[in-house]
Amino acid sequence: MASQQKVYRLEEVKAHNDSKSAWLIIHNQVYDVTKFLDEHPGGEEVLLEQAGADGSEAFEDVGHSTDARDLMKDYLIGDIHPDDRSGKSYKTNTGPLGREQGSSSNWTGWLIPLGIAVLAAVAYRFLVASKF
Ligand code: HEM
Repeated sequence: MASQQKVYRLEEVKAHNDSKSAWLIIHNQVYDVTKFLDEHPGGEEVLLEQAGADGSEAFEDVGHSTDARDLMKDYLIGDIHPDDRSGKSYKTNTGPLGREQGSSSNWTGWLIPLGIAVLAAVAYRFLVASKF
């Protein structure tokens, strides 16, 4: 699968930046979205704005669904050359319109239950102590 894919240089991708031929780099992979321009639910303009360049950030900012990510595979034509890769790593954001999911690993998520537990313990001590 991956071995059949071509490796493209950034210079090649840059040449495909209009509606006749629109290529996009997303997460260091190259997509030919020419045929997808008409079908993109977000419109062709946004794709053409990023055409010939790295659209990873714009793609993640929108918070594309997992369906959208599955659909992308149909347009994948290859990888970007290792020398042309952006060192950036993007946080995958599958929430609708930028809403993030799976934030339960976030440590602040523990603060509220912890606060409630501490308050309950103090209240219990207070109630028990006030009986004597
Ligand atoms: C191969 C690449 C792409 C695919 C397959 C794709 C697919 C989709 C799909 C399926 C949707 C509908 C909502 C969803 O399911 O998330 C969508 C919405 C959208 N996409 Fe893309 N997209 C791609 C690239 C991009 C890029 C590079 C941008 C850059 C700005 C973009 C901007 C948007 C916007 C603004 C919406 C509309 C959100 C809304 O109003 O609901 N997309 N896209």
